[in-house]
Amino acid sequence: MSIAELTIADTAPSDGMDAVRAWVDDIAALTRPDEIVWCDGSLGEADRLTKQLVAEGKLIRLNPEWRPNSFLARTDPGDVARVEDRTFICSEDEADAGPTNNWREPAAMRAELRDVFAGSMRGRTMYVVPFSMGPVGGPISQVGIQLTDSAYVAVSLGMMTRVTETVLDLIAAGQEWVPTVHSVGFPLVDADGTRHDDVAWPCSTTKYIVQFPETREVWSYGSGYGGNAILAKKCFALRIASVMARDEGWLAEHMLIVKVTSPEGRVFHFAAAFPSACGKTNLAMLQPSIPGWTVETIGDDIAWLRQGPDGRLRAINPEAGFFGVAPGTGETTNRTAVETLWGNTIFTNVALRDDGDVWWEGLTDEPPAHLIDWEGKDWTPGSGRPAAHPNSRFTVSAAQCPSIADDWDAFDGVPIDAILFGGRRATNVPLVAQARDWRHGVFIGATISSERTAAAEGTVGELRRDPFAMLPFCGYNMADHWAHWLEMGERLGEHAPAVFQVNWFRTGDDGRFLWPGFSENARVIEWIARRVEGSAGSVSTPIGQLPVVEELDLDGLDLPEEDVAALFEVDPQSWLAECDLTDEFFARFGTRVPAALRAELASLRYHLRA
Ligand code: PEP
Ligand code: NA
Ligand code: MN
Repeated sequence: MSIAELTIADTAPSDGMDAVRAWVDDIAALTRPDEIVWCDGSLGEADRLTKQLVAEGKLIRLNPEWRPNSFLARTDPGDVARVEDRTFICSEDEADAGPTNNWREPAAMRAELRDVFAGSMRGRTMYVVPFSMGPVGGPISQVGIQLTDSAYVAVSLGMMTRVTETVLDLIAAGQEWVPTVHSVGFPLVDADGTRHDDVAWPCSTTKYIVQFPETREVWSYGSGYGGNAILAKKCFALRIASVMARDEGWLAEHMLIVKVTSPEGRVFHFAAAFPSACGKTNLAMLQPSIPGWTVETIGDDIAWLRQGPDGRLRAINPEAGFFGVAPGTGETTNRTAVETLWGNTIFTNVALRDDGDVWWEGLTDEPPAHLIDWEGKDWTPGSGRPAAHPNSRFTVSAAQCPSIADDWDAFDGVPIDAILFGGRRATNVPLVAQARDWRHGVFIGATISSERTAAAEGTVGELRRDPFAMLPFCGYNMADHWAHWLEMGERLGEHAPAVFQVNWFRTGDDGRFLWPGFSENARVIEWIARRVEGSAGSVSTPIGQLPVVEELDLDGLDLPEEDVAALFEVDPQSWLAECDLTDEFFARFGTRVPAALRAELASLRYHLRA
């Protein structure tokens, strides 16, 4: 339906849609698209848009014999990832953005954006895409609208979220919504009327990914790539939603959600935060190596958590699809993901096989003899460069995942039994440890880290801190985020989930990984479930409760005893050195660090010295 039709058809007295129409008109007046198309999220619409993108040379249709209804997009080589240095949190007060975000004064940024967006959609169509994050109308869900001049983004949004006209009914009835504006920044007509040919991947060398937390708006310019352009995802569901959550008493987190069932049929739900490139999607789709246990997928990237009427913390996956990294996804590392991608998938920057299917490093052990690489060039195994971009992606509906849980889209969410914090640590952090209590758990979340360089055993290299795995995604001061978590703990009281720290990446003196990882991580999941149900013991250490090694299920793993010991070794000297680094890290946030976390650090040092 066009904007004109909507205006004429709707003769009702003033409702929530008036603001939407005024906003769409305002953005159109600024950006000057040729046409405005309101999206309904239907299959017919996706089919129409993908056909149009193929006709324009912006998508390549894959061979339907191998990959039905699937497409390959090749980006501009300069538009392949999120641009953190061009991502801005424009809060009124700089201190509210905190030391880990780029801040700009909101009025100045607004003026700058007005200039940048002026005429930016000339010669293009502007799509109006209404979406729901979470089940439409659900108690933890939110709605938003994205305006975009990219059909690729409109189609991707339709896979990653619930796009439906029902969202407009909710808005008409008064539901709050988040406005998001996106332009690839490649107008086809200049202000003086000069026409330009379109290109396969329009974008601009000038990029802005801008969040206004107080007015809850997103403006994105110059990129067509996932996290920069599908604004419902990182920009809304994490940066803006984290601020909404702070103000309203809930949590918007960079977490997967899984449903775990024990051999006795007891069901658990876990949420887990890992920095990017720590195997989050793999854990979300884990196929357990141990008999009797099942792990089902609810979400692989984002969780919204809210206290339910029964006092427990309930979670939804606000998304409806996966935007996963392709390289490293293969039969042995994540067969479930490979099966998910059987069709109805958009691939971005992977390699094209001669038979019209796709390939990426790690999909199979042996590469094909010839490929067209992600830049459209001939490639052979001897080319000396990857065929797929290391950040090449797949976009696919969650419903297509064979391990998706029956309650993945539960209206009220699922009750969370445990929260896991992970990182990529060669040293210090054991395979698994349980936090003593919520406050200790918040300390663990606040200090998540990965080694920047491979560190020798017994020393700690430079640590890249990624608190709550939210470093690029927290829409406000990170230290205030920790305070908010502490407050959530007060609110949850005895209903607070148990908190655990996990690390699949600890290495031995020789630099070799001590733990096999992947499907064997189910053994750690088992221990966590046993702790939650109260059937496994633990050993107290200064850094938390460790497993009683004899109680761990390590059958058939063939792990040398000394490796098992090394996986759980707590070396006081090395941990004291890490405490010094934590001090330095906390110092960046000055007085905003909650006293409870400074107390946790002091207590950790005290017990390490004892
Ligand atoms: C993204 O880059 O769009 C994205 C989803 O980020 P990540 O995979 O790092 O979470
Ligand atoms: Na990225
Ligand atoms: Mn992520």
